[in-house]
Amino acid sequence: MKKVVLLIVVSLFLVSGAALAVPSGKTLDFTKSPMGKVTFSGKIHADAGVKCMECHNPETFPKMKQGTVEIKMAKIYAGEQCGKCHNGKRAFEAKKNCNKCHKR
Ligand code: HEC
Ligand code: HEC
Ligand code: HEC
Repeated sequence: MKKVVLLIVVSLFLVSGAALAVPSGKTLDFTKSPMGKVTFSGKIHADAGVKCMECHNPETFPKMKQGTVEIKMAKIYAGEQCGKCHNGKRAFEAKKNCNKCHKR
């Protein structure tokens, strides 16, 4: 009986894991900013060689669930959240490229 339960749990995990394999093929929209909607593309980041764990770690975006972290420009400019890379070194600098993220 225990084995059956375990099997069900494992297969549910695999099914939802596959359906949610986000950032690679999916996009997330962040619509709260007056500067315009930000569309985060998993594909662009995966194609640029960014690994899941570079974002999904305890300091950055711990949960693989949208809405658990409030993204603020002050944090981005301070080199946190998206600003961990969007600092003009690893990727384009946030301060000079509002419109690369925000679209009206
Ligand atoms: C460049 C950063 C970044 C990378 C790389 C990244 N993610 Fe994410 N991911 C995010 C952010 C930001 C969120 C939203 C988190 C929040 O709002 O708290 C998110 C959310 C998710 C979600 C939830 C989506 C939803 O609809 O709620 C899943 C699942 C996920 N990521 C899986 C992955 C997987 C698997 C990988 C690697 C293939 C990956 N992520 C790579 C930044 C990233
Ligand atoms: C771990 C590093 C990393 C993090 C964190 C990260 N990005 Fe990126 N991002 C990149 C790289 C690398 C590229 C591709 C190179 C470039 O465009 O400068 C990129 C490209 C992009 C692009 C494509 C721009 C274009 O016009 O081609 C957008 C939009 C973007 N990121 C938004 C975000 C947002 C929003 C977040 C936070 C939720 C985020 N990124 C977090 C590394 C990162
Ligand atoms: C790397 C992508 C990226 C760049 C570049 C960027 N932003 Fe943002 N910005 C975001 C994300 C993601 C949010 C969160 C939106 C949400 O929660 O719906 C946000 C939120 C905001 C907000 C509302 C929250 C807050 O912190 O006040 C304002 C205002 C804002 N951005 C202005 C700007 C301006 C001005 C620039 C250029 C100087 C800029 N952004 C550049 C990704 C970016």
